Parts: sequence; structure tokens; C-alpha cells
Amino acid sequence: MKNLSRRNFLGNIGTIGAAAVIAPTLMASTPTLSQSDGVFKPLGRKIKVGIIGCGSVMNGNYAPHLGKCPFAEIVSVCDIKPDRAEKAAKKFNVPNWYPHIDKMLAGAEFDLLVNCTDMQEHGRLNKIAILAGKYVWSEKPMATTYKEGRELFDLAIKMGNHIWGAPAMVNSPQFAFMARQLNAGKLGRVAAAHAHYGHQGPGWSAFFYEEDGGSMPDLGVYNMVSLTGLLGPAKSVVAMLNVITPTRNVEDKGFIQVKAEDNAHILLEHQNGVLSHVQCGFNYFNPAGHSGLGENRPTISIIGSDGCLNLIGYDWHPLGVEVATTEHEELETFITDSGTFVWQEGASVICEHLSTGKELLITSEHALHVLEIMEGARKSQATGQRISLQSAFKWPVVV
Ligand SMILES: NC(=O)c1ccc[n+]([C@@H]2O[C@H](COP(=O)([O-])OP(=O)(O)OC[C@H]3O[C@@H](n4cnc5c(N)ncnc54)[C@H](O)[C@@H]3O)[C@@H](O)[C@H]2O)c1
Repeated sequence: MKNLSRRNFLGNIGTIGAAAVIAPTLMASTPTLSQSDGVFKPLGRKIKVGIIGCGSVMNGNYAPHLGKCPFAEIVSVCDIKPDRAEKAAKKFNVPNWYPHIDKMLAGAEFDLLVNCTDMQEHGRLNKIAILAGKYVWSEKPMATTYKEGRELFDLAIKMGNHIWGAPAMVNSPQFAFMARQLNAGKLGRVAAAHAHYGHQGPGWSAFFYEEDGGSMPDLGVYNMVSLTGLLGPAKSVVAMLNVITPTRNVEDKGFIQVKAEDNAHILLEHQNGVLSHVQCGFNYFNPAGHSGLGENRPTISIIGSDGCLNLIGYDWHPLGVEVATTEHEELETFITDSGTFVWQEGASVICEHLSTGKELLITSEHALHVLEIMEGARKSQATGQRISLQSAFKWPVVV
């Protein structure tokens, strides 16, 4: 990879990156350790974890991964459907289970709340946990609005703690490879990018289709984290969102009216004229299978004057990166091994960070920026206007 002068680097991608390099005061505060004042001391022991929400993602992904994490010990589980909490406690050998967050907080001591509840419950529950002095790892989104999320972030810092939000895409070796290709100017002057993610929609819970749910916070969020992580924070957003399937039959509530978008196109303007597009939805038939694990076509493409990059597979289950440049016009595939990366590793990575002080690539500001994008996309749909965005995050994520 050729060395890149600072001037080239800024020209290749954009000036918000320049802001990160030149004028850190323009950026939101960007602690990579758990406290912004830099006095965070790693706890030097296993992190005691309480998981709230014992549904699909907790049972299928989080608890199995955290259960194997050498830096974590799951001490409590909680669900407003108490039978789910009890069952999960038995299944994962967790000593305590509770039917309500208040009981959980009054019960066995723990350090980190892992929030796997309905999207609409995240902000409220995260705040209760922060006020009780807990660290928080939240499934996406961290809150319903950017303002609410930012308040949670500030509150956590004030309490001497921290909140982070899913997803953890920036940890994959494919993300790192793509970021380094871009940083090195391999694509020349970057112009455009496209990303997409969809399936036929979850069939188990109504909250995905209720107000403040939708395919953006459930699926498009992954692409938004990847594209902003690679191309830098977005300055403005334009979107069209609609509902393709107005009624659904879901396991927990039967037939429901779909209120949140299930079909979304989001156009982002990054610095220096780079434009990107995210497409997501709950009406996407995928010949590679509903789960998406079989997807072996590109789902993210980035194009510049001298080259292009394609991420094969989804960013949460990446299978490799294709590159072609003016110097090597045949597509070549790199990084077909994801190493230890799995999308559900976020909470485990936070436990390692809290235990050992290992620095994070994931930042709360990145999750908050994506939250502002999603809110902006809804505003754009409602008003027909292009919406300016205010937030930013430390970028480049990978140097
Ligand atoms: N299912 C997946 O494959 C998947 C993957 C990645 C991320 N996610 C995200 O994880 C979150 C949960 O999704 P899911 O599919 O597991 O949903 P789910 O409906 O299967 O599980 C949610 C659980 O939270 C519980 N709950 C709701 N409100 C609660 C409260 N106030 N207190 C305690 N428990 C409460 C529900 O009873 C339910 O058991 C969502 O943000 C979703 O976007 C899901």
C-alpha cells in the first residue's frame, strides 16, 4: 500500500476527516476509554453483566457469545415476560432472573447492562440503568431520537460511566481493509457508494413494525455505520420511506397495522462531494436465504476515479473484499477470513475494554451520528426536504 501524504488523504475522502485531524474542537468529544477525562482505570476483573430482554437476539446470539467471553460473567437476566427470563437463566446457567428492571437493579450487583429489548424501550431502560450507576451496551438504536441519545451519553459521562450502542461493524477485518484502501487513496477521488440490506421482516415481534421501529433502525443501521465509518460523517440526508406491506401477522400480537417504514432509500452527502446511498427493507426476498448468512454477492460498493471496492456478503457477516483499480483492472478478492469477528461481539468487546482497558474502535458518537441520520431521514420523508446534520465522530475510525 503506497504511503499517503496528509494532503492527498484529505483530498481523497473529504474535509470532515480534516476536521478530525486538524481541529478536534469542531468534533464531538470522542472518548475511546470509558470516561472522557481519561482517568478511566480498567477494572482488572471479569465484568458482571445483566442482560435485559430475553428474546431472539439474546438467546440466539448475545448470551452464547458472552457466555464464552473470558472478560464477562452473566450474573442476571431480566424480561417483562418472566417465563423468558427464567428459561434463559436455566439455559445459560445464570444465577439470577428478574421480571422487571427495578428488581434487577435492586438484586445481584452487576457492572454492565446489556439491553436486548424492543427498540422503543431502549432509551427509557438505558436511562434507568445509567442513573443506577451502570455501564450500558445497547442494541440499536441507543434511544429514539438523537437528542435523547446525546442526553444519555452526557448523563453517563456525568455519572462516571459510559453508554455504547450496536452495531459493531467497524471491528471486522474487512472494514479495516476497506478503510485502509480508502485512506491510502487506492480509489483515487472517491465519488459514490451504495449499500443494501433487507429480508422479509421479522415474524416474531410487533415492535419492528410499530412507531419508531422500521427497517432503518433494524437493518439499514448496519450500512449507515459502515458507510459513515468508511467515508466520514454525513453533512445532510434525503430519504424516501414508505410501507409496502400494510398489515402483518406476527407471533406476539397477531394481525397488526404496520406503522413504521418497511421500505427505505436514504441518500447521504459526506464531505467533499462524496454521495452514498443506503437501501433497506422488510420486503426483500433473498435467493441466498432469509437469514442472510448465505449472501455471497456484494452488498456495499464504493467507487472512485481510479478504483472500486465491493464488500462481499453483508457487513455484519463479511466474506471478503473485491478491489479493482487502474493499476490492476481485474477484480481481486482479499480478506476472506473474518478471524474472530462476529456481529454480536459488541457487548463482549465492551467487557474486554472495561476489564483490561483495551481501546475501542466503536464510539458512542458514531452510533449517535447514525441515530441523527435515521431521524433526519424520517424528517426528510415527512417534509420532502434535505435535512442538515450536526453531529460527527472521530474519523477515520481505522488509520
Ligand atoms: N433478532 C435478531 O436477530 C437481532 C439481531 C441484531 C439485533 N437485534 C436487535 O435486538 C433487539 C431485540 O430484538 P429481538 O429480535 O431479540 O426481539 P424479541 O422481541 O425477540 O426480544 C425482545 C425481548 O425484550 C423483552 N422486553 C421488552 N420490553 C422490556 C422491558 N421493558 N423490560 C424487560 N424486557 C423487555 C420482550 O419481552 C422480549 O422478550 C432489537 O433492538 C433488534 O433490533 C435483533
